[in-house]
Order: sequence, then C-alpha cells, then structure tokens
Amino acid sequence: MLEMRGIEKSFGAVRANRGIDVSIPAGRIVGLLGENGSGKTTLMNVLFGMVRADAGTITFDGRPLVHHTPHDAIAAGIGMIHQHFMLVPAMTVAENVMLGWEDAGAWLRHDAVAQRIAETSTAYGLDLDPHAVVGALSLGAQQRVEIVKALLRGARLLVLDEPTSNLSPPEVARLLPVLRKLRAEGRSVVFISHKLQEVLDLCDEVIVLRDGAVAGACPVAGATRETLATMMVGRELPPPLARVETTPGREVLIVSDLRALDDAGVERLHGVSFSVRAGEVFALAGVDGNGQAELADVIGGLREAMHGSISIDGDDVTHATVTRRLRAGLAHVPADRATTGLVSAMTIAENLALRESDAPPFRRGPWLDLAATRALADERIAAYGVRAEGGDALVATLSGGNQQKVILARELGRRPALLLAAQPTRGLDPGATRFVIDQVLALRAEGAAVLYISTELEEVMAVADRIGVMFGGRLVGVVSRDDADLTTLGLMMAGAA
Ligand SMILES: Nc1ncnc2c1ncn2[C@@H]1O[C@H](COP(=O)(O)OP(=O)(O)OP(=O)(O)O)[C@@H](O)[C@H]1O
Ligand SMILES: [Mg+2]
Repeated sequence: MLEMRGIEKSFGAVRANRGIDVSIPAGRIVGLLGENGSGKTTLMNVLFGMVRADAGTITFDGRPLVHHTPHDAIAAGIGMIHQHFMLVPAMTVAENVMLGWEDAGAWLRHDAVAQRIAETSTAYGLDLDPHAVVGALSLGAQQRVEIVKALLRGARLLVLDEPTSNLSPPEVARLLPVLRKLRAEGRSVVFISHKLQEVLDLCDEVIVLRDGAVAGACPVAGATRETLATMMVGRELPPPLARVETTPGREVLIVSDLRALDDAGVERLHGVSFSVRAGEVFALAGVDGNGQAELADVIGGLREAMHGSISIDGDDVTHATVTRRLRAGLAHVPADRATTGLVSAMTIAENLALRESDAPPFRRGPWLDLAATRALADERIAAYGVRAEGGDALVATLSGGNQQKVILARELGRRPALLLAAQPTRGLDPGATRFVIDQVLALRAEGAAVLYISTELEEVMAVADRIGVMFGGRLVGVVSRDDADLTTLGLMMAGAA
C-alpha cells in the first residue's frame, strides 16, 4: 500500500532521517518504534507532506507522491493524527470535521455532515455527538473526532503519533478496538508508541528506527518487550538501580485538608491530607481525572487552594507565589510541558537556567553569566541524553521526548528538597524512562522527599515507598510498598475498594 524509499531529511547538522526505506502492506497495524529523536515524527511528517524531504520517493497505492502538501496526502487517502490535536476548541464536532474540507462546502450541508458523523460514530463505537463543543470533550474523545475526520475524508492509511501517551487506561482500552476494526476493513495503521506492551498487544509488525535509520523490522509474534527495547537502543538496557534502604526523616511536605476547584469552577479536590518525609517516595496512583492534576497544580502554586494548607519544610506556602515555593525547596515537573513546563521560543540553555538565574554563578550583579549558563547546559544535555545540536538549539525544534528531558534535567538537576513529579515519563523512550526512575531513586537516597504522580502502575511500584490512590477527588487509601498488589490497587483506582 505504501512504499517510502531512501528518505533523507536534515535540519541543520541533525540528520533526522538517513535513507529510510519502509513498506506498509494493506490491512496491517505497523508499530513505528525508536528512541526519542530517532526520526519517527519527521518520517511521518514527510509522508503527510508537512515536511519536505531532501531526497527519496514515496508511492501510495501505486501512485507517486511528489512535492505533495497535506492536502494532497489527504486526497490520496492518508490521514495523520498528531500528538497535539489540530481542532478548534470553540467549534462543534461537525464544524471541526467540515473545516478545510472543500467537498463539504460544495455538496454537503451541516446536517448531512452531522448525520455521517453520527453513523460513523455508531459503526466504529466512537461515541461522538456531532453537536458537542470540542473544547468540552475529554482528550480521548477529541482524538476520536480526529479519527472520524480522517475516516470521512476517506483515509485508507491512518498514522497516529503517540496516540496513547495522554490517554487514561480506559480511554486506551476504547481506542485499540477502533484501530483493529480499521484493519479488519483492509485499512492500515501506523502506530507510534513508546509503550511496548501496547505495541505487542495491538500491532502485527514493527519497524524500529535508530539514529535516523532503520535498525530493524520484525513481526510482533515472538517479540518481547526486551527484544524490542534492545532493537531500539542497540544494546540491552542495564538492570534497574537497586533500591537502598532509607529511614524516612522529617516531614518535608505536609498537605492538610486541601480543597480546590477545577478550571470549570467545580470542586474537584474534597479535602486531601498526607505528608511526605525526607528520603521517601510517596506515589499517587489513579485514573487521570480524579483530582491528581488539580492537587499537583495547587502544590506547585499554579492553582489557588480554597481550603486547607500546604507546608514545605516548615514554611507555610499555601498562598505563596511559585518563586517562594521554589526557594522553599520545591522542584516541579508539570504534567503539561507545553503550557507550564518550557518556554519553547527560548534555547535549551535558557530553559535550563530559568530556575537558577537569580543566584551565582549564573547571576553576577545584574548580568546573566553566559559562560556559566552554557556550561550548565552542556553538562545537563550530556547527563540526560538530550538529543540536540547543542545548548543554543531552540526548545521548539526538539522531539517531544527530548523536550521532556529538558524539564527533567532542569528540575531534578537542582537536587531539590522536595520533588513534585507529575507523569514525568510521558513520551519518554524505555531507556530514558529507566534513567528517570534511577534519578528519582538517587534523589530519595540523598534524602529528598518525592511526590510522584503517575497513571503507570508499573512505574509506581518501581519507585514508591508508599502508594496512595486518588478517586473522585479524595485519597481513598494508602498502602506501603510491601503490602501493595496490582489487583487491590486496580480496584481502589476504580473506586471499588
Ligand atoms: N523543525 C525542526 N528543526 C530542527 N530540528 C528538528 C526539527 N524537527 C525535528 N528535528 C530534529 O530531528 C530529530 C528527529 O526528531 P523527531 O521529532 O523525528 O524524533 P522522534 O523519533 O519523533 O522522537 P520522540 O520519540 O521524542 O517524539 C531530532 O533530533 C529533532 O531535534
Ligand atoms: Mg515524535
């Protein structure tokens, strides 16, 4: 169905794609794997006409695609769902589907489009109301709007770039059958993901990129998470760091009877209390949307507490500015890197120095010390394996996972007294995920207190000393690591225990 031959693409000195050959047969789900910055998004942007390749040829259904635009790609039967959806939040589902669809203007009325959305939604189990306003939909539902949009435009090949990294487990569970149904109809899917278990469950075969080139391809039957990770990295991952015994010390973070509203002004946290001690990792597990995001925002100073108190190392910061919290010892890895984590129009070096630029050696009198800032950037880029041309590269040019590494390098690298990490491994490849877990354990061994919020139970089990489960805006239970088992945690997460 699709043949890409000799695809080359460089950005300055970075060779993002070096002579890539791939073929995708009809009726297959193909996983596209590779470390952060290995060239997956670039290759798919070339296919979709968003990025012009330096060399190479593409044929789709026997027809060549030359100097094509996204419009041509869609007309040929290719649909692409980007990680950041391209929908207009203030418009309805039907209006979004009609947007930029010339045929719709010419011969389809709004009601007819709404009718076809409803039919497609029923046929594929997408559960979409054509008249709903997109901004009010969950991320999973917005993604299904993108799917319906591609299907109505006649996509026979659907590319999904990390479709599950922002979805909660129940939303993932409803996406996968949709993709299987597309395959059953003879369409094909390219599925980019770092979650190897998902890839094994869903895909027929995988293509692995390493450093801009194809490192290998194989059927999924017979592959394991270990063999896939080894293909991606080119060597076996080292075993995880051993957890050292720590004796939890003073209470660094004390959260008491915290209540807060969500963005819509509805109370979403109903009185949450806990503390985290020095040398301890307290993990909060739970399905997304049960108050964890609001809790993290309130502790980080991005959302007002309606009631209750927060103290960091004895300092009452309940209503303090973000800067005062940082001075009290807080480091914050926010769940949403695009809006609260990084300034994408600034360089890596500037982003890394953001938190430290008011103290020597970075600040000398009124001046920012550029040499010190560069030295810091070089050191952190190397330590965290950020794939970039150098510290002067703009954050906006980094791959998704490499942007996440810059935040982690900035926040963990400061050796804080208290780390608040929300979904810190989102978008990271398996090697980088392992590195983050090791760094969190190293901070713990040095006596930091860590509040680790994650929907990935496996990660929670690897880092936590104690695990709390959030449900419906409350902390419904806390278990120690030794007493935790996945079944009980799962039941608590579903509000059933
Ligand atoms: N517009 C751009 N300008 C400069 N460099 C870019 C640009 N787009 C991508 N790159 C570089 O090309 C390389 C490949 O990036 P790409 O986004 O394709 O990686 P990826 O495999 O999708 O990674 P991830 O898993 O982190 O999403 C990276 O080194 C990235 O910094
Ligand atoms: Mg990518």
